[in-house]
Amino acid sequence: MSTNEVLNQKTKERYSLYAQFYPILALLAYYIIWRGNIIKHIQFFRNLVTEKSKVLDIATGDGSLTEAALKPGKNQNLESLVCLDISSDMLDKARKNLSSPPTEFVLGDVGKMPFKDGQYSVVACFGGLNSFPDVPLALSEIYRVMAPYGKIRGSALLLPASPWRQKKIQQWIEEGYQTQTITKEKFKKWVQDSGFKVSVETQIGDVLLFELVK
Ligand SMILES: C[S@@+](CC[C@H](N)C(=O)[O-])C[C@H]1O[C@@H](n2cnc3c(N)ncnc32)[C@H](O)[C@@H]1O
Repeated sequence: MSTNEVLNQKTKERYSLYAQFYPILALLAYYIIWRGNIIKHIQFFRNLVTEKSKVLDIATGDGSLTEAALKPGKNQNLESLVCLDISSDMLDKARKNLSSPPTEFVLGDVGKMPFKDGQYSVVACFGGLNSFPDVPLALSEIYRVMAPYGKIRGSALLLPASPWRQKKIQQWIEEGYQTQTITKEKFKKWVQDSGFKVSVETQIGDVLLFELVK
């Protein structure tokens, strides 16, 4: 198995367990470790869809954030939604949270997505970068499936300054919930190398909300 496959396997095992307690544990970590603002986070995701769109949501998780932001079934602008995640347990929960059609669920790896080149103009990827084994590969795959002038909105959880928070994150990396720490410099370099341009970048606490365009 390659390093990426080993890391993906570890993520699947960990998220199979985490799925049972999501989103409560995720929200606690979000507030205590990253000091984010979930209302602004949801609004930022919601404002991705301001006109009629077919949306690809990568690393959907249990779908609770996607449901809160996009309101499938009620949102006139949301023509269709495709949710991709590597964890079947998280996707099983997403199926319940995002029961309104037309939503499609795809079990797969962001590094090797079963989509055509240029298939999507509107992509979301919230909280995924921290768990992917190879972010440059993930960004190049997202770039491939995105149409020219398409956009992606997402979030990255940055490395906080306080040692006890850093220690907690290190523990989660060892356990497999995350794969690496992310700094603004690392993020900037990834984006520069991907070919995307940053159109929006906002930091709340240690949560980075970003929009990239192709
Ligand atoms: C922190 S959760 C984010 C869930 C949701 N988007 C949110 O913000 O609440 C990260 C998700 O990334 C998924 N994931 C991790 N590695 C992945 C990969 N290589 N390809 C696709 N999804 C992956 C995990 O299974 C997990 O559901």
